[in-house]
Amino acid sequence: MDRKRVFSGLQPTGNVHVGNYLGALRNWVRLQDDYDCIYCIVDLHAMTGDYDVAAFAEERRNAARVLIACGVDPARSLFYYQSEVPQHTELAWILGTMTGVGQLSRMTQYKDKAKGSEARLGLLAYPVLMAADILLYRAHAVPVGDDQKQHLELTRDLAIRFNSRFGDEFPVPDPIIPEHGDRIMSLQNPTAKMSKSDPDEGSRILVLDPPDVIRAKVKRAVTDSGSGVRYDWEEKPGVSNLLEIMSLFSGASIPALEAEYGSSGYGKFKEAVAEAVIVGLAPIRAAYEALDDAAVEASMRRHAAAARDKAEEYQLRVRQRVGLAG
Ligand code: AMP
Ligand code: TRP
Repeated sequence: MDRKRVFSGLQPTGNVHVGNYLGALRNWVRLQDDYDCIYCIVDLHAMTGDYDVAAFAEERRNAARVLIACGVDPARSLFYYQSEVPQHTELAWILGTMTGVGQLSRMTQYKDKAKGSEARLGLLAYPVLMAADILLYRAHAVPVGDDQKQHLELTRDLAIRFNSRFGDEFPVPDPIIPEHGDRIMSLQNPTAKMSKSDPDEGSRILVLDPPDVIRAKVKRAVTDSGSGVRYDWEEKPGVSNLLEIMSLFSGASIPALEAEYGSSGYGKFKEAVAEAVIVGLAPIRAAYEALDDAAVEASMRRHAAAARDKAEEYQLRVRQRVGLAG
């Protein structure tokens, strides 16, 4: 039987952090065992704000190496840069003709990011391009963190709308969101999610951070004025976030960690958290060091060519459905 298809994407701006890893990338890697996976560095999505060209080009290149180090496996999955497969943007245009501006302007991410700046079309249209990424390959499932739920809803709406207007073409995709780790919070402000764009680097742990940097960031993590190590998001969001991170890296359950560190004081608890993260990330750092930039680039080129062939087959059907062929 054919395996079901998974698609997901990650923006190449800023470095990959443990929120990306625990919320999305760990699932990307695991799903490779059972699904036909297609993963993308969504470079076009990363261009909706002002940016420095040289830094962007460098981050874009490096992101591929980081993701392969995290376990995205080009021997099993298609893995390429979105911009190298023009069918993504073609489908985005077609889907855009069916998307209400009202619906787009109500998206949380748009409202947050458009605030105070002159809102641009690219930012408004961002979720339509994401829907195109997913629907282009008829994906059934999309591993993402909690913040992408609303974009997935729009994708589902667009699949249903297209199918009812032009005939059954797209499966309606489901998100795959982890039960824990779907929303890792900032180490400096545990009521905000850990984010690539936070100006405070102490707010996030990068998957490539060396051990001493991880220790320093965890040590500085905001907790509270109490002392008990308890999983309680209302009273102890900072501690709860650290418990969640430690549990996901060590495999120990949260109740087991509460029992072990409940009364040991924050200092000792944080040292243990840092060690669990260091051990968990060590294989990624080692894999990253062992990779060769030229080999990574060659793989990205090859996979983009294969993806273009596949995407073109699918787009032929869309063009026929909407009256652009023949
Ligand atoms: P981005 O960095 O926006 O390209 O996000 C890449 C993936 O990481 C998406 O699936 C996000 O939902 C996920 N993600 C980003 N930040 C977090 C976070 N703080 N906690 C959990 N998942 C996250
Ligand atoms: N919008 C996603 C994010 O910011 C990135 C993304 C683009 C994506 N296209 C996608 C995720 C398709 C899943 C599927 O994280």
